[in-house]
Amino acid sequence: MNYNAKVTGTGSAFPKKSVSNEELAKQLAKDGIETNHEWILERTGIVSRHYSETGNPDEFNSSLACLASQKALQMAGKTPEDIDQIIFATCTPDTPLPSNGCWLQKKLGAKNAYAMDLVAACSGFIYALNTADQAIRSGDVKTSLVVGSETLSSMTNWSDRSSCVLFGDAAGAVIVERAPADSQSKIITSHLQSDGNLWEILHVIAGGSNEPVSSEALKQKRNKIQMQGREVFKHAVRTLSQFATKALDEAKISHEDLDWFIPHQANLRIIEAVAKRLNIPMNKVILNLDKCGNTSSATVPTALDEAVRQGKIKSGQTVLMDVFGAGLTYGSLLLRW
Ligand code: COA
Repeated sequence: MNYNAKVTGTGSAFPKKSVSNEELAKQLAKDGIETNHEWILERTGIVSRHYSETGNPDEFNSSLACLASQKALQMAGKTPEDIDQIIFATCTPDTPLPSNGCWLQKKLGAKNAYAMDLVAACSGFIYALNTADQAIRSGDVKTSLVVGSETLSSMTNWSDRSSCVLFGDAAGAVIVERAPADSQSKIITSHLQSDGNLWEILHVIAGGSNEPVSSEALKQKRNKIQMQGREVFKHAVRTLSQFATKALDEAKISHEDLDWFIPHQANLRIIEAVAKRLNIPMNKVILNLDKCGNTSSATVPTALDEAVRQGKIKSGQTVLMDVFGAGLTYGSLLLRW
């Protein structure tokens, strides 16, 4: 047995409500939190983001993921019954139990699959794609559904102006299929790493088994995102550059020969700094953060989906995906479309 894995379909979904910087600033001002469009745009590159409507079953994390998955299946020409494996990357699941993978399996009708969640924060989609690649290349799995989907608005601390303006809700999905050993279209290489020593610079401390949610935790917003923005920024630029280089070096592809770069969409200034370090011109960088904000594990699959549907990414082209997130977690994955 000697197989490759290739992505054959992509899909994405967003909640209906899109909130501009101006609208967000107006909303936050009601609670005495000051911000403005100019600051957000200049420091992050974000113009608007989508938020799920709380309590609306059509906009649960797994429901957005279901919509994205149906689109990916349609592009791949597959049915839900064709899926053997569902890997759902998320840090904002619908429920602690069962997994979002299982909620998605039920909603999609993927009755022949086994489903699981993968938690690696904003790096989750690349960790999941790496896992699917290995399962397919080993011969265990023929067709995998890999999802990155989040409703980050549920864990945003609305009184912290430096983090609350960054995040949004979205779902992205890809179908990954077995391909022959000589397939040109394939996942070429991937590199993952994490450093748990750096947990403190981006975390949500309450809501797990150490500190279940209590009225005290709610009052102190300990169940919401806490972030040291500048520290995250610094590590992000360093690790994104390092992991992109690892992938290109291993595949012996120069930055001139790379066709597309899809970095985690956290902050335009981070992306520009990384592209500069790597000598990748910005016209090769796929961006969607202006209209979505940082959607954690959903940034890369939604950006990929948009670029594929716009006809930017063409057969035979190379695409480098590059991520970082809470943990800290890092990773890159290079594929040929
Ligand atoms: N609106 C207006 N002013 C704001 C603001 C907001 N939303 N948020 C912070 N400020 C203010 C600060 O209070 C500070 O004011 P001061 O100088 O009077 O104290 C000033 O802007 C600069 O704050 P600072 O935190 O130093 O800004 P920054 O240039 O580092 O930008 C981030 C802040 C969060 C945009 C930036 O650090 C960042 O993007 N970090 C990475 C975050 C990230 O990617 N997280 C997700 C990882 S997956």
